[in-house]
Amino acid sequence: ADVRGRTAFITGGANGIGLGIARALVKAGANVVIADIRESALAEAKASLAADDQVETVQLDVTDRAGFAAAADKAEARFGKIHILVGNAGIGVMGPIMDARYDDWDWGMGVNLGGVINGLVTILPRIKAHGEGGQVVTTSSQSGLIPISYSAIYSAAKAAIIGITEAARGELAAINIGISAFCPGPVQSNIAHSGELRPEDKKQDTGYLKREEELEARPVSPLWMSQDEVGERVLAGIRRNDLYILTHPEFGPGMQRRFDAIMASVPDEEINEARAKEIFFLLDN
Ligand code: NAI
Repeated sequence: ADVRGRTAFITGGANGIGLGIARALVKAGANVVIADIRESALAEAKASLAADDQVETVQLDVTDRAGFAAAADKAEARFGKIHILVGNAGIGVMGPIMDARYDDWDWGMGVNLGGVINGLVTILPRIKAHGEGGQVVTTSSQSGLIPISYSAIYSAAKAAIIGITEAARGELAAINIGISAFCPGPVQSNIAHSGELRPEDKKQDTGYLKREEELEARPVSPLWMSQDEVGERVLAGIRRNDLYILTHPEFGPGMQRRFDAIMASVPDEEINEARAKEIFFLLDN
């Protein structure tokens, strides 16, 4: 999809990857609405983009559904229509599954999966209504494709996002809306500071607070990809309507191993042709 003159709504766009995507879109001539829970970071992000006539900001917690609708209203009031949704807001919620308590699951799934869902429910009907077509990018992760240890909550949300994206792809194509699952590897960002965003009501039944404090001290590796390089890759994926947007060839062998293991588990039995026909019918619809 072309982006010039179109309007993108980016959640979690005040820092990190979302800001890199915002910068690439602004440079390519799009209007950008940055929605983020961090009010002060919004002002800094807007200043750093240095394109006030193309940029709007709105404070939003993506788990707040009424707030999401109000933020979309604000975006439309400023730029008329929303064409591109980038569901990017996310938090690092990491730790052993044995320590994961309900507040950890609810916070992690609420923001990382629920935030994406709320974006789709709020904004897809608005894109459909104006009839000019559009594009959705859902921010998953490499860990949605190769889940890693100590990240069950995170990987669950990220895998679900890929499932949503793949399932919706055909349906949305029929109404001229593209959709991509963005699965980055390690990127320089503020994600280690996610713990400071955990609300009080998610600090009651948790096994992860100490780990989140430790994570704050983790340095950002110079080997991790820059947010601007990642932003350009997402822009290219939007333009081509890629189903998957990946960043790191280093994960190729791991994905191959995973899928080989899945294929090796396919029952080595004769195919029932009638059943196969029925299955293909289900897949096509
Ligand atoms: P970041 O912390 O730099 O940026 C995330 C932004 O989301 C922040 O500005 C934060 O304030 C905002 N946010 C957090 N919770 C929110 C909420 N409830 N409502 C609204 N905004 C909220 O982190 P990063 O790394 O840029 O993360 C962006 C996305 O990329 C996330 O979904 C993350 O899971 C994903 N990701 C990051 C990778 C990395 O290596 N940095 C790798 C793979 C995926």
